Amino acid sequence: MVWNEGYISEINYTYGFYGELSPLKLALATAVNSVHPPDLNKPFNYCELGCGRGYTTNLLASAYPHAQFYANDFNPNHILEAKTLASSATNQNVHFFDDSFTKFIHQDLPQFDFIVLHGIYSWITPENRQAIVKFIDQKLTVGGLVYLSYNALPGWSVAIPIQGLMLRHRQQSSEPILESIEQALNFTGKLIDTKAGYFVQNPNLKNRYERLKLQNRYYLAHEYFNEQWNSFYFDQVVQELEEAKLNFIGSAQLTDYVDVLNLSQEAQKELNEIKDPIYKEVVRDFYLNTQFRRDIFARGKLPMTPVQQSELIRNIRYALIVPRNTVKLQQSFAVGNVTLHLDIYNPICDVLAESSLTMEELHNHPAINKITMNNLYQALIVLTGIGYVHPAVDDQICQQKKPFTDAFNNAVIKKAFVSDEMSYLASPLIGTGVVVTPMEQLLLFAQGMGEDAVKFVWNVLSSQNKKLMKDNQVLQTPEENIAHLENIAKEFYKNSVPTLKKLGI
Ligand SMILES: C[S@@+](CC[C@H](N)C(=O)[O-])C[C@H]1O[C@@H](n2cnc3c(N)ncnc32)[C@H](O)[C@@H]1O
Repeated sequence: MVWNEGYISEINYTYGFYGELSPLKLALATAVNSVHPPDLNKPFNYCELGCGRGYTTNLLASAYPHAQFYANDFNPNHILEAKTLASSATNQNVHFFDDSFTKFIHQDLPQFDFIVLHGIYSWITPENRQAIVKFIDQKLTVGGLVYLSYNALPGWSVAIPIQGLMLRHRQQSSEPILESIEQALNFTGKLIDTKAGYFVQNPNLKNRYERLKLQNRYYLAHEYFNEQWNSFYFDQVVQELEEAKLNFIGSAQLTDYVDVLNLSQEAQKELNEIKDPIYKEVVRDFYLNTQFRRDIFARGKLPMTPVQQSELIRNIRYALIVPRNTVKLQQSFAVGNVTLHLDIYNPICDVLAESSLTMEELHNHPAINKITMNNLYQALIVLTGIGYVHPAVDDQICQQKKPFTDAFNNAVIKKAFVSDEMSYLASPLIGTGVVVTPMEQLLLFAQGMGEDAVKFVWNVLSSQNKKLMKDNQVLQTPEENIAHLENIAKEFYKNSVPTLKKLGI
């Protein structure tokens, strides 16, 4: 068998970063589900299976310099890029291997406190899923956590044949992958235009198709054009993982269990009558029509009493990670549009905009002490789930980590001079990646060097033959580009840079 086993290897995957994989976030999600999380103050071992180009692992390694990070991906192009980034970031605590899941287990590896895999489980053969379960069985320490994401049922049920059609169309083509993706997309469009019964009877698919057409082609290649493409009911995954003695902890997406945001009263009542927690989760996926699950499992779980849980959660520190004026308290959730309680959420955001605080400190703050502990807790979970707030470390630990995240961020910014693929920088305060576009990275660099930022960034962009977009139009002349860049720079320095500085970037 060829090494790629039917998996796309002609073109590389995108440089993605996935915040759910951050140890601080995983630890919070575990604690929210009343289970003791691993102690992140001690050294720990972390493993990412199928790490792609290694952006997530490298970023996290810089943000947790006291931990060791291991990762594999059988595509040597991916691993070469991962190692090159590690070396440019002077990351000493990462170890990359161009091994398949079956081979990786034979390396000299420690027992892991975290084994994470994002965007893998649905796209590989049943034999490779078994290899992963065996790896977890042998390499996850007792008390360790697994993060696993996958395409779920019933959410995918109606759209599965779109992938079946596009894959078959590509298999008929002898064109290189990017051309054949274009052809498969066009052909699918033709079936919609010529009123194929499948699309007529499932009219919502047209919107899905329109969204697909806008996606990055490198992402589409890996998402839709692999020979393996499986969606699972939750209990199928639970059953496969039982061989590694894993217990389900909960979702890594924190808003998933805030029932009022997800389920009607009737749905909550129906679900509460189901005793079996695994079956309940399956039925919940029917209510939510879940398409993608981000699950946390543990090998042995130490439940916390309500008192232990409350003590642990009160002492977690939280940071506001976006500029205060960008926080929107009207949000769309599964139940529809919800306006979050302004009298609770506004003061919390105001206080966190000043500095990161533990929940206990927040509760004692004069602007907040009228808010009950329960409401404060729920608001922090919702704000974290939305992506406005993130668990954080204290200032002293942040300062210890900063030289490492600075080195990583400098390596990423260096790449912004030649390509626009990396859009995250590492924050030592929150131990995760923060979106900073390559253009913003160049603005940060220019500011640090005391350069005329706009002139400097425009020189770099024009050397790459790049032009800016405004109102969906490409700006043609240098004057138009520079004028637009001036506005972007003004806004970025005024609004975003103060927040990035607070995050240690
Ligand atoms: C969709 S990408 C996800 C990459 C990364 N986890 C992310 O989310 O950005 C799937 C990755 O799994 C790798 N992969 C697929 N089958 C594999 C196998 N049998 N052994 C090791 N890596 C594999 C691919 O090369 C690819 O980089």
